[in-house]
Amino acid sequence: NIVADKRTKRAEREQENMRDRILPAEETEKQRAFMDWVRQNNDDCERTSGVRRRAFVLTFGCQQNEADSEKIAGMCESMGYVMTDRAEEADLIMVNTCAIREHAEEKALSIVGQYKHLKAKKPSLIIGVCGCMVSQEHRQNDIKFRYPYVDFIFGTGSLHRFPGLLAEKMQRGKRLYCVDAGEDAVAEGLPVRRESGYRAWVSIMYGCNNFCSYCIVPYVRGRERSRKKEDIVAEVQGLVAQGYRDITLLGQNVNSYAKWSDWGYDFSDLLRELDAIEGDYVLRFMTSHPKDAGHKLIDTIADSRRIAHQLHLPMQSGSDRILHEMNRRYDTAKYLETVEYLRRRVPDATLTSDIIVGFPGETEEDFAATLEMLRKIRFDMLFSFIYSPRKGTPAAEMEQVPDEVKGRRFRELLEVQNEIALSRNQPLVGSVQRVLCDGVSKNPALFSGRNEGNKIVFFPGSEEDTGRFINVRIERAEAFALYGEKEG
Ligand code: 5AD
Ligand code: SF4
Repeated sequence: NIVADKRTKRAEREQENMRDRILPAEETEKQRAFMDWVRQNNDDCERTSGVRRRAFVLTFGCQQNEADSEKIAGMCESMGYVMTDRAEEADLIMVNTCAIREHAEEKALSIVGQYKHLKAKKPSLIIGVCGCMVSQEHRQNDIKFRYPYVDFIFGTGSLHRFPGLLAEKMQRGKRLYCVDAGEDAVAEGLPVRRESGYRAWVSIMYGCNNFCSYCIVPYVRGRERSRKKEDIVAEVQGLVAQGYRDITLLGQNVNSYAKWSDWGYDFSDLLRELDAIEGDYVLRFMTSHPKDAGHKLIDTIADSRRIAHQLHLPMQSGSDRILHEMNRRYDTAKYLETVEYLRRRVPDATLTSDIIVGFPGETEEDFAATLEMLRKIRFDMLFSFIYSPRKGTPAAEMEQVPDEVKGRRFRELLEVQNEIALSRNQPLVGSVQRVLCDGVSKNPALFSGRNEGNKIVFFPGSEEDTGRFINVRIERAEAFALYGEKEG
């Protein structure tokens, strides 16, 4: 654990040099010129061939990646591409990758592998791979040598360089590698093409300094950089004015928003300012780190008008020994204290968490301690993961838990949690929930949406409910969903 701790300290020192790093306007202008050039090229192509070029963006991973992909798609549109959801008809394919677990990387590489055939059929096809996976050196080499038909790659910190890379590829035809450790200044003003007209992601900070010993994120997304409060407020104001109803602030560790700046405000201050924006909307944020989730944050939620009574607070393990090995820098007592304060100040708060099973050295006692914490806290929902060793992280070098043990613990955890989730949902039967409707569900007889606590609710609805708040009287509860009828 000394290794992890050293990394944390180093990150904090490095951070000193990265204060207030906002991308200079000249750089943004340069990229805008590249965008114009590509647009011109695409217009010319349409004039001569009669067809407009199409772009396809495929996204793996978390909401942060979804948000990045909305910017990639926004830039594509600004460059004159029409978006398509079919890779086969695309002239430009962008794959935004994830590195959090082995499985995510395997999936991305397998899809990129399939695109070889598309390129063989259409040699003019341009393929770009970006995101967390290709921010790792060994994966850059994989792409370089094993996927020679990939035209360019760029890391998470180089998102704003996408137009320049594409233009250069189109002009010179050479393969391009723009890799970084996710570290770059914050780029404002990139075009965004949002997937939804009523739910929006707003990134407020990038990167992570925590170096949890299992996690690849600090290596692929670099040091923490925050956006200025004014820029975030302006963006949220714009979204509310456009009719967005559900706005989620994103960051790897939102509680340390602006922590490394000398701007004189913190995450709670930002929340308070956003909460003052008039309109009918719900404000959420993720992810919070328990070590930084203090009373001020919880008071802010309690005293707010629009912040959802909901908190995602990854616990990771219920064993103090394992938490220490994970370099999480809190213990179960501190975690419990935070939960108690939350439940005192915001009694109806939905509380969700992340758990990793099979972290190196996890014993049966450690695992039993996790189950005990689950029973004690009773989370509404849990995102549980089997530990996946990540190259270059301290935990990958530790003594590993055998796969079959991990699998058994994972199943046991799910069983315990299913019962808890059901018991958390049952008291909602008979209540009326305000649900933001997402349209018709997989079951064509039912519409679905999410309540303030972000729980999924099914009800017989109609097309015009989509994107609106609907009151639903809950009639039945399952572990993962609520069912009811529209009211009033
Ligand atoms: N293996 C398994 N799960 C992981 N997570 C992060 N890194 C790993 C890993 N190497 C989980 C954590 C985190 C969530 C986003 O992913 O629980 O909170
Ligand atoms: Fe990874 Fe989250 Fe820990 Fe950062 S705080 S290292 S993103 S698990």
